[in-house]
Amino acid sequence: MTEYRITLLAGDGIGPEIMAVAVEVLQVIGRQFDLQFEFQSALLGGAAIEATGEPLPAATIDTCKASDAVLLAAIGAPQYDTLPRHLRPETGLLGIRSALQLFANLRPAKILPQLIDASSLKREVVEGVDIMVVRELTGGIYFGQPKGIFATESGEKRGVNTMAYTELEIDRIGRLAFETARKRTKKLCSVDKANVLDVSQLWRDRITALAAEYPDVELSHMYVDNAAMQLVRNPRQFDTIVTGNLFGDILSDEAAMLTGSIGMLPSASVGAGKPGLFEPVHGSAPDIAGQDKANPIAQVLSAAMMLKYGLNQPAASDRIEQAVMQVLNDGKRTGDIMSEGMTAVGCQAMGAAIVQALG
Ligand code: IPM
Ligand code: MG
Repeated sequence: MTEYRITLLAGDGIGPEIMAVAVEVLQVIGRQFDLQFEFQSALLGGAAIEATGEPLPAATIDTCKASDAVLLAAIGAPQYDTLPRHLRPETGLLGIRSALQLFANLRPAKILPQLIDASSLKREVVEGVDIMVVRELTGGIYFGQPKGIFATESGEKRGVNTMAYTELEIDRIGRLAFETARKRTKKLCSVDKANVLDVSQLWRDRITALAAEYPDVELSHMYVDNAAMQLVRNPRQFDTIVTGNLFGDILSDEAAMLTGSIGMLPSASVGAGKPGLFEPVHGSAPDIAGQDKANPIAQVLSAAMMLKYGLNQPAASDRIEQAVMQVLNDGKRTGDIMSEGMTAVGCQAMGAAIVQALG
């Protein structure tokens, strides 16, 4: 029996509902694969603000650091949008990524044949899409200094953020991306804005230099505006994409939508060591929270990614993915992926169906 300590960060909005489904799935898979999960819940985001006044309590960082993996649902709600920046839920999320040194965020966007008609793009455009976005997660404009809203001499306010990358930061995400591409179809596209930004020029220079270490990987470069266009024009041209924090945030939402619904997509955030953090690409969807309408699949697939990338249990991970496929084959759909002739289910019923498919 292998034992794992898993920290659960359910967060806000639909977070607790989808997390409950993922935990149930993990408990069943644990019994089947002889894995013992010790779950501990910790506070992040709005839930942490309500309980402690801050979005990322020190106790949460300690609990996460003492665990083998962290499973996160989603954070954020409109009532916190007017708080000072350091007290907002999003700051808590950035803080935990940074505290755990999770510099790489892997966001797969793979179109499932069952959901091809849920995509807003034509079938012939999205058929066969299988993209991995490798997003830098602890640097770039999200973290660069100086930042803030300052008064100018004329008394006018000026908002500042700084997009900065050091060679070390570029090299470590670059290497991880080359390694990722190597395990896939050996095609890597690095996305930047080197025609305008100096930070992007350094990015391009370093990624180009790294390519010498990976002669088997075919490297290309693309400006971010073109990449945004190509993703909807001809997404099949991409396999692995590596890019900075902000461009990766935007392009991964776009890539997610190719697959029909952002409610389907998991992500893995990893760094130099343990623990990794696993979370859906989507947000907390406050508009449907507490109504049993959320799609729990991205959360369940995040748990599967946790098993594969965080705990080195690929067989258990594959089993969960198969169960999700089976439920989709059976025609069960939450509202976000509903199409004609399918059976509409809520969050709990979708969870129950996945558990049943696990056998
Ligand atoms: C994401 C989200 C976060 C981000 C927000 C909630 C801070 O959009 O994980 O993509 O911008 O990284
Ligand atoms: Mg985002």
